[in-house]
Amino acid sequence: MNGHHDSGIWTAEAPPANDALAHASPAAERRGTPLHRLLMCPPGHFAVEYVINPWMEGQVHRADRHRATAQWQALHDALGAAGAVIEQVPPGAGLPDMPFSANAGLVLGNDFVPSRFRHPERRGEEALFIDWFERAGFRIRRLPGAIFFEGAGDALLDRGERRLWMGHGHRSDLAAAAELERMLDLPVVPLRLVDPRFYHLDTCFCPLRGGRLLYFPAAFDAASRQAIEARVPPHLRIAVGEADALDFACNAVDLDEAVAMHRASPALQRALAGFGYRVVQTALDEFLRAGGSAKCLTLRLDE
Ligand code: ARG
Repeated sequence: MNGHHDSGIWTAEAPPANDALAHASPAAERRGTPLHRLLMCPPGHFAVEYVINPWMEGQVHRADRHRATAQWQALHDALGAAGAVIEQVPPGAGLPDMPFSANAGLVLGNDFVPSRFRHPERRGEEALFIDWFERAGFRIRRLPGAIFFEGAGDALLDRGERRLWMGHGHRSDLAAAAELERMLDLPVVPLRLVDPRFYHLDTCFCPLRGGRLLYFPAAFDAASRQAIEARVPPHLRIAVGEADALDFACNAVDLDEAVAMHRASPALQRALAGFGYRVVQTALDEFLRAGGSAKCLTLRLDE
């Protein structure tokens, strides 16, 4: 076994000095276009008003919007300070989950594949997100038929290989995998999610630069764990324990030098430091009541 076991976390061996898998250095990227563009939706209408995942149970009407707004602003500012350029989509009245902009759809180049939400409670967001992407000049590419697909909540691009990882089993339909593969001409690896607490792929799986991966293995069925392990070598994987997973540590925003999340244990912070990351922790507990955290509150516009 590569790596060593450290408080429930498999930490990576130190990466090779000349890391051929890594993208261009952040400094090199900075000289060109902005490092990363993200879309966020302010929490002006954020609330827990219904229950569509286990995190929301017992939380209806308990989120404090004032506190949520301060936490959202702190995340926004931390991401900006780490080099991201942030665009905003106005929130919709009566759409309390719209701040989770990761679920708007999937962005690849100039293409935007809009989500089709499984739960009627979120379907009103679809037209508002499509409208924003149309105005921003993206090509809207709808999935055919009546396939459920929840965007970058369940569809995550690998940051080393040309590959899309797609979660299914709770929200997105497995059928979306083949459609996306065809539409985007890109290999798609479907992963079956089996724990209702980790109902979107981005709650338990986070591709990091250079083909690295942060994930919670118990959220997947055995075949999917094998599919992951067959593609990501042990020295590029960090498997978090349940406590970090329940703190939404895998729901992280990777900005190349910094990685932002609600909370990470000291062991996980060490493992991420071993990958060369500065860990930015920013409290998002008001959003955890709705079952979301840092990554869910953002959507990458430049992949
Ligand atoms: N309450 C929202 C839902 O259940 C939370 C979405 C979190 N987003 C995410 N990308 N994981 O749909």
